[in-house]
Amino acid sequence: MSGRGTLRRPSRVVALGIAASLALTVPVGVLWARSLLPDTYSVMEMGYPDWGGGPGGSGHQAHVLGEDTPGSPAATSVTELTGPAGRPDVAVTLVARQEPVTLVGGRTVAGYTINHTSPGPLLRIGQGDLLEVTLVNESVADGTTLHWHGVDLPNAEDGVAGVTQDAVPVGGRHVYRFVAEDPGTYWYHSHQVSHAQVRGGLFGLLVVDPPGRRDDGDVVAAVHTYDGQRTVGGAPGESRALAEPGATVRLRVVNTDNAPLDVTVGTSFRVLAVDARDVVGPEDVEGRALRLAGGGRADLGFVVPADGSAVRIQLGQDGLTSLVVGPDDGAAPEVGRVEGLLDLLSYGSPAPLGFDPEAADRRFDYSIGRRPGFIDGIPGLYWSINGQLFPDVPMFMVAEGDVVRMTLENHSGEVHPMHLHGHHAVVLSRNGEPASGSPWWVDTLDVASGDSYEIAFVADNPGIWMDHCHNLPHAAEGLVAHLAYVGVSTPYRIGGPAGNEPE
Ligand code: C2O
Ligand code: CU
Repeated sequence: MSGRGTLRRPSRVVALGIAASLALTVPVGVLWARSLLPDTYSVMEMGYPDWGGGPGGSGHQAHVLGEDTPGSPAATSVTELTGPAGRPDVAVTLVARQEPVTLVGGRTVAGYTINHTSPGPLLRIGQGDLLEVTLVNESVADGTTLHWHGVDLPNAEDGVAGVTQDAVPVGGRHVYRFVAEDPGTYWYHSHQVSHAQVRGGLFGLLVVDPPGRRDDGDVVAAVHTYDGQRTVGGAPGESRALAEPGATVRLRVVNTDNAPLDVTVGTSFRVLAVDARDVVGPEDVEGRALRLAGGGRADLGFVVPADGSAVRIQLGQDGLTSLVVGPDDGAAPEVGRVEGLLDLLSYGSPAPLGFDPEAADRRFDYSIGRRPGFIDGIPGLYWSINGQLFPDVPMFMVAEGDVVRMTLENHSGEVHPMHLHGHHAVVLSRNGEPASGSPWWVDTLDVASGDSYEIAFVADNPGIWMDHCHNLPHAAEGLVAHLAYVGVSTPYRIGGPAGNEPE
């Protein structure tokens, strides 16, 4: 499927069955024809503007942000929304290659590397540092990009093929520059054909340290599944990280997979940060697992026993993957049974949010369902957003400074890790139950089927931002929308000569 090759085909039998049942009730040919995607299009022409009850809507339901978009006579191009000029504090070159990945222990799988490794190099910088990354594509045939997952950076540095840049072709390069304003645990990954490139290993971790703190006592764990083999930083089975008896450890766990990851710790622990935002007043947790959304991160704090034993952290429910933190040969008892999941809705202590969600300027619904239909002429059972199939989905329109509320609802039968680029949102409630713990800031929120979350954020970062499911095959199946600021436009296009396919 050229032009837009991102949609995964459902099985032929299912597809024929759906086509047959549609044929009984609707003029299939019309739906089929209307679903065809052009070879190239701008995300600004996608779907319909949703003004969320705020200004700009006055009956205008034509394409978003065209020349006739109300209130945006002189559009800002995303290309202008760059990080600062000047001498970088840290400059790195990352070379992407399509080549076999060798897991610890020797198994080799087809995939992608950065500087010949997967995960790519850990980038560790200080808060306030200007980072300059030169991405070189040596051999990734479909082209590639780097997206800085969870970093609220200027839009032009966001690394989304077809939205904020063109995919970098083999032999090409692209420079990203941004100031790391917020400390925490992040990751970077390709946002071109991402459902294949990320799964194949084209990612790495980024840690931003607050002033005066470096990596003493830090353990970093990127949990990634290569060709069915779950690993910690590329190591299957049990991995070890050294720590002295009695040491205080900060374990940064990053779920780079599509599915949720249950983390259980063989000692009492605290959740110090979620999605690179500190938890206020974290309490001791015992006998509970922490479930991390696909793309989500958490920093866990615990103390290594003084008696020479080590702490086992189990990653996933199958008991096959674990990380043992402690002295070299310290025994690490199995993690005991857990009673359930830690609920972040009521964890930690309340604190001011810094804005008033009651004074919302816009309110949006992002309701995920599933229904039969056509996308690009292919019949299937597809994810829907507010009842619509890709690309006829809402474009969430905001103006800079707006307080935005969004209700994320899932009626689709599967969990979706919903990821908004460029912003952190705070969870206000789940299924009507108000958040009662620490402000729970997220960039990636697991929304289980049947659940409804109210979240809020301040629109303080102009641009055009993806707002999609981070189960990346779901995104490739159309579970993608955008948050767009009035007056911002992009010259980049999906498809076209660069072959941009962000999902
Ligand atoms: Cu981690 Cu849109 O991405
Ligand atoms: Cu999903």
